[in-house]
Order: sequence, then C-alpha cells, then structure tokens
Amino acid sequence: MSAIVTGGAGGLGGATSRRLIQLGFSVVIFEPDAERAASLADELGPRAFAACGDQGRDSDVRNAIAVAQRLGKLILNVNAAGVAISTPPTATADGVAHDMGLFRDMLDMHLMGPFNVSRLCAAAFAGNEPDADGQRGVIINTSSTAAFDGQAGQTAYASAKAAIAGMTLAMARDLAAIGVRVCAIAPGPFLTPRLAAAPADVQASLVQNVAFPKRFGRGEEFAELVVAILRTTFLNGQTIRIDGAMSTPLTPLHLPAQR
Ligand SMILES: NC(=O)c1ccc[n+]([C@@H]2O[C@H](COP(=O)([O-])OP(=O)(O)OC[C@H]3O[C@@H](n4cnc5c(N)ncnc54)[C@H](O)[C@@H]3O)[C@@H](O)[C@H]2O)c1
Repeated sequence: MSAIVTGGAGGLGGATSRRLIQLGFSVVIFEPDAERAASLADELGPRAFAACGDQGRDSDVRNAIAVAQRLGKLILNVNAAGVAISTPPTATADGVAHDMGLFRDMLDMHLMGPFNVSRLCAAAFAGNEPDADGQRGVIINTSSTAAFDGQAGQTAYASAKAAIAGMTLAMARDLAAIGVRVCAIAPGPFLTPRLAAAPADVQASLVQNVAFPKRFGRGEEFAELVVAILRTTFLNGQTIRIDGAMSTPLTPLHLPAQR
C-alpha cells in the first residue's frame, strides 16, 4: 500500500513518512523543498519517493498520485504542509488594517492547499477495490489548537485551521459514499525544525502552557496518532487534539500584548 504525505520532509510530515515506511507503506514525500525531500527519501530507502511539488498546483498533485499508485495501492493521504507566515493584528492602534494579501496567503497555504490534495486523493481512492469494511482510503489533515484557541496575531492562521476542523465532518459525510474516512489532527506545540530554531525563552514560554507532560510534542507522537487513526476504522469525521492538555494565553507570551 502507498501513501502521500504533503510537507512529507518537514517536522510532522517527516516523522509521519518515517513511521509509515516502518509500517510497510511506500511513501510519496510531497514537498517543494526538493533537497530535503530527496535526502529523507535516500535515508528511508527504496519504498520512499521524493515528489517535488506544490500542494496548490493540480498537475503536481496528480503527478504525486500517479507515482503513489505505481508504488502500491494508494490508500492514505496525510496533509502536513505549512510555512510560517507572520501576520499582523486585524488592525493596529495606529489604524493600519490587516493586509488582505497576507490573509489570502495564509488561507492558500493552510486551507486551500490541503483541500486541493484531499479532493484529488479522494477522487483517486474512489477507483480502489474496497477492503472488508468497504473502505477505500483515509485522509488526515493537520489543524491546530489555534482552530479553537486562537491567540492575538493569529487571526488568519486560526481561520485556516478552524476551517480544516470545520470541513472534516462535512468531508467525511461527503466521502462516506465511496468508503473514504476523513480526520484531522490538531497539534499543540511540537518541536519541529521551525520551533527548534526559536530562541530558548520563546521555547520555554510555549512549554509553560502545556499541563502534562511539560514539554513539546514529538513528531513521533503525531505520527503514532496518524497510525491510530489509520487502524481505527470506526473513527471518522473527528478533529483530535494532541496538546498535553495545554491552555492558551490570549497573547503569545513571547510577544508584547497588542494594544
Ligand atoms: N509544529 C507545531 O507546533 C504545529 C502545531 C500545530 C499545527 N502545526 C501544523 O502542522 C503542519 C506541519 O508543521 P511543521 O511544524 O511540521 O512544519 P515544517 O515547517 O517542519 O514542515 C512543513 C513542510 O511543508 C512543506 N511545504 C511548504 N509549502 C508546501 C507546499 N506548497 N506544498 C507541499 N509542501 C509544502 C515545507 O517544505 C516543509 O517541509 C503545518 O500545517 C502547521 O501549521 C504545527
């Protein structure tokens, strides 16, 4: 069997690619970062394939699907792409309104892209022979605790991640007719390369909000949840938080409060 992982060489996506290879899958690491994707594919061996592309470009996604179908029966799509886009408040005390281009960029990256890959993979799954349960495939998108607990400065990000959570049940019901399950994972702070590069005080302030265990999440824990969703066929249409029972301050502790 094969899987497509977008952001498949990133922090959460990379851990997922690695775990799926261990599980016996062939994995298409779908990434714009060709070098990182190729280096992970080399490390993971002949069942890993680096497909360079952009989740928002149909031809790239169709190419990744074709590759995955050549590698095995494509039954899993995990969407874990992302980039850090710094966004301002909705309006500042000086009367500057949020830039609409930045808002759209955020939705393109964190909502339109995952939806694009989901819809094209679901269409591909439709052609699969169903398993004993009638299942033809599984889609797992990545939301965030920001979907439910957005902080100041996160309006655009929280909107995109809330939309991922919101579309999960609707998409699961859409795709029930073809035996495709849809879930989302809403992580709290995970120590992926993006956060690992942050200053120590910023890292400490993020961990401070986690109840237990008092540390960052690990990519392997995200990947293990992917596997649990994959194996638990009655689980469908849910967004699952994985966040050490964290609570979220109104404003990120490492940023000055917005006036
Ligand atoms: N790390 C966290 O604490 C955390 C918490 C909540 C949610 N998330 C979400 O999880 C996802 C992954 O986050 P991460 O920390 O692993 O990030 P990361 O930066 O480590 O990895 C993201 C990967 O996505 C790839 N990517 C960028 N644009 C792409 C595109 N157009 N098409 C395909 N791939 C693309 C990047 O090259 C990168 O390898 C993101 O959606 C992020 O918002 C992360």
